[in-house]
Amino acid sequence: MQYRKLGDSNLEVSAVGFGCWQIGGYYWGRVDEAEWIAAVQRALDSGITLFDTADWYGFGRSEELLAKALGPRRDEAVIATKVGLTMRGGKHDFASDELLELEDHIEKDLSRAHIMQAAEDSLRRLQTDVIDLYLLHWPDVTTPLAETMEAMGELVQAGKVREIGCCNFSVAEMREAHSYRALAVHQLPYNMLNREPEQELLAACRDANIGTMAYWTLFKGTLAGKYTEDSVFETDDWRHHDPAFQGETFKRNLQIVEKLKQVAGDEGITPAQLAIAWAIRQAGATTAIVGAKRPQQAEQNAKAAEVQLSDAALAGIEDILSGE
Ligand SMILES: NC(=O)c1ccc[n+]([C@@H]2O[C@H](COP(=O)([O-])OP(=O)(O)OC[C@H]3O[C@@H](n4cnc5c(N)ncnc54)[C@H](OP(=O)(O)O)[C@@H]3O)[C@@H](O)[C@H]2O)c1
Repeated sequence: MQYRKLGDSNLEVSAVGFGCWQIGGYYWGRVDEAEWIAAVQRALDSGITLFDTADWYGFGRSEELLAKALGPRRDEAVIATKVGLTMRGGKHDFASDELLELEDHIEKDLSRAHIMQAAEDSLRRLQTDVIDLYLLHWPDVTTPLAETMEAMGELVQAGKVREIGCCNFSVAEMREAHSYRALAVHQLPYNMLNREPEQELLAACRDANIGTMAYWTLFKGTLAGKYTEDSVFETDDWRHHDPAFQGETFKRNLQIVEKLKQVAGDEGITPAQLAIAWAIRQAGATTAIVGAKRPQQAEQNAKAAEVQLSDAALAGIEDILSGE
């Protein structure tokens, strides 16, 4: 495993992290709890130290189960959790056929009052005295960033949070937040099928010495190379509704993945490892967090950090992604 420092902070984390959204209970279909807990433990055994969750993932369920999975090994982990998404009307148990409606109930709240309460709730669910990395989940245009960052600073001063970061911010929002208080990391969607952050965001993070955490490194599983046009996602799996998994878009992505599979085969690695190894070696990339459901997935993903892609592989990937 490689370990990398997050921006100017004192936090050093594994280059490949473990995403904990899957166990939240919504969006990802059925996930076996015992198997997922075993996956977290296999991740630790494989050198992964970075675990990414959010109060939003299953309305706290992901945080609770991460605490259960880490158990006495909590100190081996750097826990990142998030604040800022709330559910209008509070927690609601959506049936799988109501999943589409869930999006309409989301509200963004980065007010001081919400952050202070949410931090206490996350600390309790995570069974810890300190959140290693507290991330602003989405921008909230109704709250001044100065208020948000002041609240985050208070949490650091109180010893309840070690470092602060943001997710899904624009370059301008990130710079403004960083001017109030140093951000250790920016979490953003980045993968072989979505290279948009290369245009500005990754360079802006590098310039400001803010670390990055790529999510959707496998483009929600697509880049692992196991899906076909006939793959069926259950109605309680968000991919059943996700436009990226329908029609021409899905077909085009699968064609790219077929070509990438050949490169992975030539390198003697899996397609998932190719996607992860590629992501963490890009300019401005610090870590990639990958959502795993099973121990074998976690172990395989961790091993991607050791992969040295050959020049031929890198050139081949570039040709495939640029459509040559
Ligand atoms: N800040 C934000 O707004 C934000 C947004 C999204 C995600 N995130 C974070 O980023 C993490 C990662 O993103 P993600 O989980 O959404 O997407 P992802 O990592 O691109 O894909 C996860 C899916 O990939 C498949 N997978 C993982 N490892 C595999 C392996 N070795 N072999 C084959 N398949 C494998 C699994 O698919 P199957 O389900 O088919 O097994 C899994 O559900 C999340 O868990 C969450 O912590 C943050």
